[in-house]
Amino acid sequence: MDNNVSDYPLPNISSCPHVVQAPTVIAMVGLPARGKTFMSKKLTRYLNWIGIRTKAFNVGDYRRAATTEKCHDFFRADNIEAEDLRNKCALMAIDDACKFLRDGGEVAVVDATNTTRDRRKLLVELICENNNFKLFFVESICDDPEIIEANILEVKVCSPDYSGMDKTEAMQDFLQRIEHYREHYESMDYSYDKNLSFIQIFNQGERFLVNKLAGHLQSRVVYYLMNIHVLPRTIYLTRHGESQMNLQGRIGGDSDLSTRGWEYANALAKFVEQEKIPNLRVWTSEMKRTMQTAQHINAPKAHWKALNEIDAGICEGMTYEEIADKYPEEFAKRDQDKFHYRYPTGESYQDLVSRLEPVIMELERQENVMVVCHQAVARCLLAYFQDKTSEDLTYLKVPLHTVIKLTPVAYGCRVEFKYLNIEAVNTHREKPKNVSLNRSKEEALSTVPPNPAVNDVERHSPGER
Ligand code: ATP
Ligand code: F6P
Repeated sequence: MDNNVSDYPLPNISSCPHVVQAPTVIAMVGLPARGKTFMSKKLTRYLNWIGIRTKAFNVGDYRRAATTEKCHDFFRADNIEAEDLRNKCALMAIDDACKFLRDGGEVAVVDATNTTRDRRKLLVELICENNNFKLFFVESICDDPEIIEANILEVKVCSPDYSGMDKTEAMQDFLQRIEHYREHYESMDYSYDKNLSFIQIFNQGERFLVNKLAGHLQSRVVYYLMNIHVLPRTIYLTRHGESQMNLQGRIGGDSDLSTRGWEYANALAKFVEQEKIPNLRVWTSEMKRTMQTAQHINAPKAHWKALNEIDAGICEGMTYEEIADKYPEEFAKRDQDKFHYRYPTGESYQDLVSRLEPVIMELERQENVMVVCHQAVARCLLAYFQDKTSEDLTYLKVPLHTVIKLTPVAYGCRVEFKYLNIEAVNTHREKPKNVSLNRSKEEALSTVPPNPAVNDVERHSPGER
């Protein structure tokens, strides 16, 4: 049997494993409502997505667990008792961050104000001197009252600190809280901090100052922070219209759209027109089916090779039945660990995430974009926006003929699925119950979606094309 695939050449795309280095603490710095939590959460999501085990520790959460006090008086510079409690909460967060790194975590984000030199000195002692971890400060500096007011309205007046309180009252209280912090605030400064690694971000990314970058991870973090923005925008994600290969239940290839696929291309162009999206840009892969799908959309288009579908290597053009028949072990191995499994001479989902990183970075820089791509690619992109684990990523449902509308809100992203009402085959194969190497063919195929063309034509003549 032609099952032994261990002799196949290495894949043509490197999985680009990240550079292993000392665990790192990223400590946020800045007055309240400067986007520290926003950046902490976004950075954590990004680093996890690229495969770096990261967790954020928000000192506000520790404080809320320790006390119900939330009035601005609690944050007064002369409230010694409260200051003591706030310091204890910060220490608990730092302690948990260090534990996380000792237990195999790679990056811990300490999301606190860390606005005094004393506090930052303590961070250096606990993190660098006691634990030998790396420490990188991210300071957000913003004194535009309009931005601060908008930030408070977006995320603070509806935070658990102000539940049930009138919005104007909450706004006044929060502005006073900021003033209490300002009394003690010591911004990072080259004359005191020249030996520390840090980035200062001014006015939501209008200007940056970077000091003493130490290593690959920190430069990646800086690059990411320099690319993100907070302008309102929408990202639309869709797969190509149904293709000829989809109709036959075959994976990969570069086939044309089916009749229904072309109907979707028309419907998609109408959808875009109705949405009235300013300055929309359309990105497709370099495959025929995505370019055909975007063909009627009235907007500038770019074609990315990085958006091409996962390369199924020796399984390209086969049905799941044919793979189960010809390479049963490979088929089972993929079910056991779909994210890391690499098709012989092809790619894994992990490879795909590496290939898509520049796409994500460019998406972060852009405003309104529609991405027309493929099932596995759409899963990877959606996982980034929805903060999904690599295990969940590979089974995300991304049906054909559906537009996924992604709108950034507060610390996350609203996700809406819009089915455009044109029938298409189902290409989603769930993880089967039995993933062992010695399972029966029926068990291996138990979750293959019942597509008419496969059932009637292909199942009886596997491999014959
Ligand atoms: P706190 O200290 O009270 O926890 P914070 O600094 O963590 O406050 P966030 O809760 O993150 O503030 O504020 C979120 C708001 O900050 C969002 O409205 C977001 O648009 C905005 N924002 C994001 N990045 C920046 C930035 N670099 N500068 C100023 N505001 C920003
Ligand atoms: O079936 C359509 C398709 O886009 C194939 O080209 C691709 O190999 C497959 O989906 C990816 O989905 P899965 O990883 O679930 O097999």
